[in-house]
Amino acid sequence: MNNKTALITGCNRGLGEGIRNILLKQGYTVIGLNRTLSNQKLKNYIEIKCDISNSENIEKAKEKFNKKIDLLIINAGIRRFEKIESMKKQDWEDSVNINLNGAFYTLNSFIENVKKSKGDIIIIGSHSEKYTFEEGGAYCSTKLALRGMAECLREELRYEDVRISYLSLGSIKNRNHNIYEEWKLMPEEVGITILNIINLPKRIFIPYLDIRPLQPLKDEKKGIEKLQYV
Ligand SMILES: NC(=O)c1ccc[n+]([C@@H]2O[C@H](COP(=O)([O-])OP(=O)(O)OC[C@H]3O[C@@H](n4cnc5c(N)ncnc54)[C@H](OP(=O)(O)O)[C@@H]3O)[C@@H](O)[C@H]2O)c1
Repeated sequence: MNNKTALITGCNRGLGEGIRNILLKQGYTVIGLNRTLSNQKLKNYIEIKCDISNSENIEKAKEKFNKKIDLLIINAGIRRFEKIESMKKQDWEDSVNINLNGAFYTLNSFIENVKKSKGDIIIIGSHSEKYTFEEGGAYCSTKLALRGMAECLREELRYEDVRISYLSLGSIKNRNHNIYEEWKLMPEEVGITILNIINLPKRIFIPYLDIRPLQPLKDEKKGIEKLQYV
């Protein structure tokens, strides 16, 4: 045990689970704000049932856990892909409510706990915040807005000795799709990257980090030919 506590949203599966496992290995106590409980009995792992898009749920979670937090990771998110003109309103609202409002409610409630330990905040963003695509309206815009929130927060917290990093992540192998995807980022690799970020000397921080797999699928077009498709 290292006497440090991390709080992660959505660590019952996918990327959050991988990050959680790396932190547990490092001796962190991990608090998971999980809409679906994993019910995994792991040493130093505490789950609190919480739908982050519901501000009352977050307030109740805070009543259950109100101690210092050394590392807060805003991870939970959804992807709903559809053209703006045909997207169901519910899918749009869920995207905003989870990816954006959920992040706000969690930060709004728990920043004071991070301040107590002069800790770190990691915002799990996506490269879709800058590489936009058709049918990506709900996802790309919520991830870009999240980056805006992270940048404002950076200015609000830097003189309080709280560091905040927005990670612009490439594709992650978040589950087994029964296809070859080993080229993608592995959740545990992102966890290791987070450890490296927070272990930097306290006087410096990385506000924005682009994280990509080294060898993604190859573009069939070569050189300047690629530009014909931009
Ligand atoms: N996969 C990628 O290629 C990729 C790339 C870049 C960035 N990201 C980002 O990485 C983060 C995690 O994605 P992932 O790939 O691990 O997705 P995932 O496998 O679908 O997992 C999403 C996690 O978020 C949780 N969640 C969703 N809505 C929630 C809510 N209202 N309250 C609490 N938890 C909620 C889910 O819980 P339930 O089990 O209850 O649904 C699950 O634990 C997201 O922010 C995503 O945008 C992913």
